[in-house]
Amino acid sequence: MCGIVGIVGDRPVAERLVDALKRLEYRGYDSAGVATIRDGKLERRRAEGKLFNLETKLHAEPLAGDIGIAHTRWATHGAPTETNAHPHFTDGVAVVHNGIIENFSEIKDELIAAGASFSTQTDTEVVAQLLARYRRDGMEPRQAMQTMLQRVTGAYALAVLFHDLPDTIMAARSGPPLAVGYGKGEMFLGSDAIALAPFTNEITYLIDGDWAILDRKGVAIFDHDGNRVERPKQVSVAAAYMVDKGNHRHFMEKEIYQQPEVISHALGHYVDLIENRINTNALAIDFASVQSLALSACGTAYLAGLVGKYWFERYARLPVEADVASEFRYRDIPLSKNAAALFISQSGETADTLASLRYCKDEGLKIGAVVNVRESTIARESDAVFPIMAGPEIGVASTKAFTCQLSVLAALAIGAGRARGTISQLEENRLVRHLAEMPRIMSKVLNTIQPKMESLARELSKCSDVLYLGRGTSFPLAMEGALKLKEISYIHAEGYAAGELKHGPIALIDENMPVIVIAPHDRFFEKTVSNMQEVAARGGRIIFITDEKGAAASKLETMSTIVLPNVDEIIAPMIFSLPIQLLAYHTAVFMGTDVDQPRNLAKSVTVE
Ligand code: F6R
Repeated sequence: MCGIVGIVGDRPVAERLVDALKRLEYRGYDSAGVATIRDGKLERRRAEGKLFNLETKLHAEPLAGDIGIAHTRWATHGAPTETNAHPHFTDGVAVVHNGIIENFSEIKDELIAAGASFSTQTDTEVVAQLLARYRRDGMEPRQAMQTMLQRVTGAYALAVLFHDLPDTIMAARSGPPLAVGYGKGEMFLGSDAIALAPFTNEITYLIDGDWAILDRKGVAIFDHDGNRVERPKQVSVAAAYMVDKGNHRHFMEKEIYQQPEVISHALGHYVDLIENRINTNALAIDFASVQSLALSACGTAYLAGLVGKYWFERYARLPVEADVASEFRYRDIPLSKNAAALFISQSGETADTLASLRYCKDEGLKIGAVVNVRESTIARESDAVFPIMAGPEIGVASTKAFTCQLSVLAALAIGAGRARGTISQLEENRLVRHLAEMPRIMSKVLNTIQPKMESLARELSKCSDVLYLGRGTSFPLAMEGALKLKEISYIHAEGYAAGELKHGPIALIDENMPVIVIAPHDRFFEKTVSNMQEVAARGGRIIFITDEKGAAASKLETMSTIVLPNVDEIIAPMIFSLPIQLLAYHTAVFMGTDVDQPRNLAKSVTVE
């Protein structure tokens, strides 16, 4: 949700600001802008659309100046036009903002009544207008900043330039993340450490309520009341994660093919492959003393959590409440003090997931986080962190983070079963052996199914609606398949529990409707086949994703059958994720969409 960067440099900054924005583009990409100060005057370039448009503009009209701020936007208030693009300027003040100023309309009305005129539809402009007004009232920049922060409410990461302070950036955080980076005679500011990775690995994260003044010599950090505070400096590992697409056309494709490797890393952390047991020192939550689990996340991470729910209930006999975080946080759930809460998030910054976490923390629950970005807010605010070790995921549609989340949740559920005495050591050994086989099987599947998925994708790209069905852990997978397809190909898709078919969705089925049935030969297979019969009887076109046993057992005629190796139930969701990811990917490629940066989306959703 918008990326911000700032540099107080010892040489021109515009090019480096845009370079840093490129690493933040996953946060939003509907417009972008840069502002610098030169000879006591603010100057800016802004452009609608992808960062490339801003680069083209800067090429034609370069921007000088050794200090600057920049922004890549995911629109919340106001259309994604150049006028609404940040930085916003008012009378010698420039502002970039990530988040939402919730009381903006009240402030705007008040400023308009006092004679101000607004040039954008954004909530952010009130920040620039307020600061300009306080300056006109005679306040020094620092006082103006503090007074403004006491006036606005909502979520923000802010960076501010004052035209008459050519050596200073002011910044503030309430919600969305903000990192200060230390250079040699230069200082940096960014929405995350990856943005700053080429410049520095020495980072301080502001915490909620902090604001800061950066100049070339360093940073002074203040709390909400203006008291000087110290925050720890840490060495970021983000530089190790500088990424490119390698030989792949898209980050998404690269990330799909990385799965065997990154899952090996994750398993190495959670599993003792000599003893075939879960590493108890990686567990960090005493599952034996917990009576239930509250599980919450958004989007794909939530769907990973739903699969996890089946596992925790089955292997650890632990009741699980799983909710999308945007509902969880407002549901007034009566939570038992003996419950633990588990939050799943690739970015570790998702606003609704973070709010749910804070709710559970206030209720006194033990908090665990299954995260990819270990330096994220969700990781920092949790009692126990379970890293998924997927490495940076740049494609907006989550793939490797999903299967790494699943792998970690599987290990945790087995570990919880061991701690609670609900599975025997023999069963633990058996399950762990299957987990250990997973990377090898994934590589084999990825090496064989691609041509089939590509030709199937050609057919799917001609359709306007697709239905995905599954039972057991294949039900959340059906929803994940539908989510993946719709977000990158823009084809309408729904994922249903196969048993729900006759309670409504069956009305949709005709000869134009492809129905993708995810059915490994597990305990539910026969029942899913009956549901397939219902589809076939109504002329629906079935794409059957099954395993060798399933293919041999089913006598139904299908439009296409994708046959995967026979695998144990514990790893089936990870293995069956591969065809649904590839199908969505190739369909989007045929449709000609922007696979890595699909319309209207952003990788990190730091607003409600
Ligand atoms: C879909 C997707 C999203 C995210 C969701 C949560 O492919 O990536 O649905 O899963 O926005 O994001 P995180 O995991 O960062 O909390």
